[in-house]
Amino acid sequence: MIYMSVTIGTPLQASAFKVLLLGSGELGKEVVISLQRLGVEVHAADRYDHAPAMQVAHYSYTLNMADAEELKQLIEQVKPNLIIPEIEAIATQVLVDIEQQNIATVIPSAKAVNLTMNREGIRRLAAEELGLPTSAYRFADSIESFRAACDDIGYPNFVKPVMSSSGKGQSRVKSFDEVDAAWEYAQTGGRVNQGKVIVESQIDFVFEITLLTVRAKNAETGEIETQYCDPIGHRQDAGDYVESWQPQAMTTAALDESKRIAHKVTAALGGCGIFGVELFVKGDKVWFSEVSPRPHDTGLVTLASQFQSEFELHARAILGLPVNTTRHSVAASAVIYAGVDDRNLSFSGLNLALSHPDTDLRLFGKPEGFKRRRMGVATARAETTDQARELALHTATQVSVQQN
Ligand SMILES: Nc1ncnc2c1ncn2[C@@H]1O[C@H](COP(=O)(O)OP(=O)(O)OP(=O)(O)O)[C@@H](O)[C@H]1O
Ligand SMILES: [Mg+2]
Repeated sequence: MIYMSVTIGTPLQASAFKVLLLGSGELGKEVVISLQRLGVEVHAADRYDHAPAMQVAHYSYTLNMADAEELKQLIEQVKPNLIIPEIEAIATQVLVDIEQQNIATVIPSAKAVNLTMNREGIRRLAAEELGLPTSAYRFADSIESFRAACDDIGYPNFVKPVMSSSGKGQSRVKSFDEVDAAWEYAQTGGRVNQGKVIVESQIDFVFEITLLTVRAKNAETGEIETQYCDPIGHRQDAGDYVESWQPQAMTTAALDESKRIAHKVTAALGGCGIFGVELFVKGDKVWFSEVSPRPHDTGLVTLASQFQSEFELHARAILGLPVNTTRHSVAASAVIYAGVDDRNLSFSGLNLALSHPDTDLRLFGKPEGFKRRRMGVATARAETTDQARELALHTATQVSVQQN
């Protein structure tokens, strides 16, 4: 028997197939556009008005998604078929309950969202339950246990609040002298005032990749299958990605090992959708770092390199539809920062940025910029990744940001 996927109704009418997006950033915006193209009714939520994904959704809501009551009320009001958490700062217990009571499907699964919102959950799953190679690590929740953990792990090491992302509260500790400052910094950078940190040994990798891994249903059998995009190389600065490219050259053994790790961790998290599996690589050796159960920022490059971008792959996979992870071009992406702290910014130089035929731009439409806030991204296609990187960086620098 052929498997039957969802039926998609008409948006804004009783038959609508509804998706609720929790977190409305630039990655969510692209997911919304992909869903809109398939006739899905989209509801977007965030903690501030006019967030990028809200601007392309049918309905939008501003609320504190970390507040269980507010979140529950919103879900009751919208009655979505699917809930897509796009950020980690969400009252995830609500999502666990929603899934248990069969009220809506949580993407990719409540378990995945719950485990990945906290570095401790995903690290213990990967290293202790699944036996995957990772950096050595310790957890600490007081200055005394933190000092001991640092001495145990050695130097240099990486300190990260367990509830944080995008490099917030993170530091690289080079010696015992820096330990107390790192603790103080971690306490101010965490998402919630939870105090707990992970101390990781430094991995001396040669490069790092994101292996976009899709769990999607087979069109005929309905069984979930795992597919991989070509590896994406990227460069991080202060815990934030500044450029990415696809494909990243690596040995066959390292690629096989990357897929083995990605398969294991995504299978354990479950559900359908795309996952950004972050890995460190040196020769044939691969270490698991972390995983996002959603599109990954470094994967913005797939807008230029693949027939189906990571956002289209995600939209299809969560609807139970088949996917195609084929890459058609070598490409790169480079981030455009605000460079200033201000609202109501303007972007110029776009004609110069786009003068090369193999370049493209996304401007996210964020209502407010900060010095290091990502406001847009440039992409470029070329013969080689080096050329694509150069062209993407050049394109990004052609865009200038003005205050009004
Ligand atoms: N143990 C480690 N050894 C070597 N480098 C590391 C280690 N941990 C982190 N890094 C470096 O710091 C970067 C950010 O770390 P990580 O991905 O854990 O933080 P994050 O806050 O989740 O960042 P993001 O949200 O941007 O993915 C990594 O991509 C890597 O370049
Ligand atoms: Mg990361």
